[in-house]
Amino acid sequence: MRALTLNAESKTASVQEVAKPQPGPGEVLIKVHSVALNPVDALYVFNPIGATGRVVGADFSGTVVESTTPAIKTGQRVAGLVQGANSLNDRPGAFAEYAVSPADLVWAVPDEMTLDQAAAISLCALTAAQALFFRLGLPSPFEWEGKKPKTDTFPAELTFFVYGASTSVGMYAAQLLQFGCEANGISLRLIGTASKKHFDMLKAAPYGYDTLIDYRNPDWAEQVRSAAGADGVGYGIDCISEGETVKKVLGALRQGGKLAVVRSLEGGAWSPEGVDLDSLMYGAVWEGLGVDIAYENLTVPATEKTRSFAVAFYRWLSGAAGFEANPVRLMPGGLDRIVPDGFALLGSGSMDDRAKGRAEEWMRPVSGEKLVYRV
Ligand SMILES: NC(=O)c1ccc[n+]([C@@H]2O[C@H](COP(=O)([O-])OP(=O)(O)OC[C@H]3O[C@@H](n4cnc5c(N)ncnc54)[C@H](OP(=O)(O)O)[C@@H]3O)[C@@H](O)[C@H]2O)c1
Repeated sequence: MRALTLNAESKTASVQEVAKPQPGPGEVLIKVHSVALNPVDALYVFNPIGATGRVVGADFSGTVVESTTPAIKTGQRVAGLVQGANSLNDRPGAFAEYAVSPADLVWAVPDEMTLDQAAAISLCALTAAQALFFRLGLPSPFEWEGKKPKTDTFPAELTFFVYGASTSVGMYAAQLLQFGCEANGISLRLIGTASKKHFDMLKAAPYGYDTLIDYRNPDWAEQVRSAAGADGVGYGIDCISEGETVKKVLGALRQGGKLAVVRSLEGGAWSPEGVDLDSLMYGAVWEGLGVDIAYENLTVPATEKTRSFAVAFYRWLSGAAGFEANPVRLMPGGLDRIVPDGFALLGSGSMDDRAKGRAEEWMRPVSGEKLVYRV
């Protein structure tokens, strides 16, 4: 099959012919229709940790062509994520004609959703769900391990702050908070920062922001505090987690507030100076795969708890009426154009490093949307 494979020596990736992966017990083989790009895919091609020949890419959607379990039939439209070359561990990636996944870690794509839209969901929506429900313990719209967070003791109102509301992670965080609060009878006040051009989209369903502040405004943290009123903001997520953002976002929360961050301290993207590390919660989305992960100077051991959370989340997603994909930009050219176009737009790790200078219409900066390629 054709697959985008890593060349660790030259710090790039190119399309090569490789062996089609074989599904093991409990796994499915998927004919990939669309893949979505995440910053981490570009990061670990431009700064490789995997070996040459590894298939890159995480987010996919497609059709099951071989199933080793009665739970999923061939012909089923599914989406999911795999780790690919985003780790030291040797696992196949998604940017290929075929991918394998454990059957319980793919979700059924509803009829009204396109496979291009479905490809854009798995990684960022799971990241948001883990941060909100698993780490921060906020009321969720589904149960895992037979329990929800203690919603009976949770206050009737929740004020939440999203820094980077137009990021993919931030948009799913807002939508999932709406689902979680609705399911548990909690009144949600949502405050976010984004560019002004996204305010109308983010105020509308399914995101439903009450207050939006331009992140380029130097006193945005002060505006967050005044929008929150006397009780302040108890919980937040920093969907950028670079440079000084963690310190500033924490400063916008009330004393003792809890903040989920999307990048690790060990990865060095943000400065710990003046940051109360006990208020922070970090996790890597890969924990949901339930396998050992070695990357970014970290070894994250496999845990059944994080895996069962991911299984429960994707089971919920399979039947979640009204759950919407974030906006998608369908990129031209398929697998061959992922590195020269898509990865150029995502850069090698930081928001400041993203390509700004190309004239083609599809090469405008990524803003409130997900880049998707058809395989
Ligand atoms: N921990 C994990 O497992 C995990 C999982 C997924 C993602 N991540 C990380 O989470 C981060 C976000 O990923 P993503 O895919 O959601 O990003 P993304 O959608 O590509 O982010 C693009 C958006 O970020 C906004 N933005 C850029 N700089 C900003 C700033 N300083 N303040 C506020 N907004 C800013 C841009 O807004 P404008 O265009 O309006 O400027 C744009 O809409 C990345 O660093 C990614 O690596 C971590």
